[in-house]
Amino acid sequence: MIDAERAKRLAAEAAFDRVTDGMYLALGTGSTVEAGLPRLAARVREGLRITCVSSSERTVRMAASLGLPLVDLDTIERVDMLVDGADQVAPDLAMIKGRGGALTREKKLASIAGHRIYAIDSEKQVPVLGNTWLPVELLPYGWRFTVAAIRRTIGAEVRVREQDGAPLRSDNGNYLADGRVGTVAEPARLERTLRAIPGVIETGLFVGFADLVIVSDGTSTAERQNPVSRLERGGAP
Ligand code: A5P
Repeated sequence: MIDAERAKRLAAEAAFDRVTDGMYLALGTGSTVEAGLPRLAARVREGLRITCVSSSERTVRMAASLGLPLVDLDTIERVDMLVDGADQVAPDLAMIKGRGGALTREKKLASIAGHRIYAIDSEKQVPVLGNTWLPVELLPYGWRFTVAAIRRTIGAEVRVREQDGAPLRSDNGNYLADGRVGTVAEPARLERTLRAIPGVIETGLFVGFADLVIVSDGTSTAERQNPVSRLERGGAP
């Protein structure tokens, strides 16, 4: 049994230590990112100049409270680096994300960031994705039909997240559901199938986004580089 809180902090701090002067930095969402933000804020106080964009209102609140410089994504022209967490990471660095409900913005940021680093505790490494709840963001209009279609697709239970007896709204004003998936041997295929359902806005399957995963067991950190993305970048880190 590892000390997960310490592991998350070590992994996130190692990720934020890679941020360099002048960067436009995207901040993910969740307890891992939050565990590393104080270290990033300390570096900013020491003179590191960065501009941050956030994947959620939750991260905005914490980043702002730490004095990190935040701007709206639509006011900048590039994102150099993303630091985020994940719920499961497979050997090929495909991931399940979204337990914190920020999956749509997280995937948008991952799609535009120059270098994408995910920080996890070692217990989030799995031999194959799945046997867990897969987050999905839904359009509220006709959501019961969308949930039924997801249920037919995965052949298992789908739960809509609730707050005070009503569907919980994401930062985008949409609904969030979680489908109980079995082993996901072909995440890209499941992603395509789910995204083809009208009303499905995004899924928590992140395939081909991680350039680097930093893993900690609470004692030390290790890096898992994505060989494909490194090749695509001409060998650059
Ligand atoms: C947020 O929507 C999620 O994708 C998180 O990045 C993911 O759930 C990891 O969260 P923790 O860092 O809290 O474990």
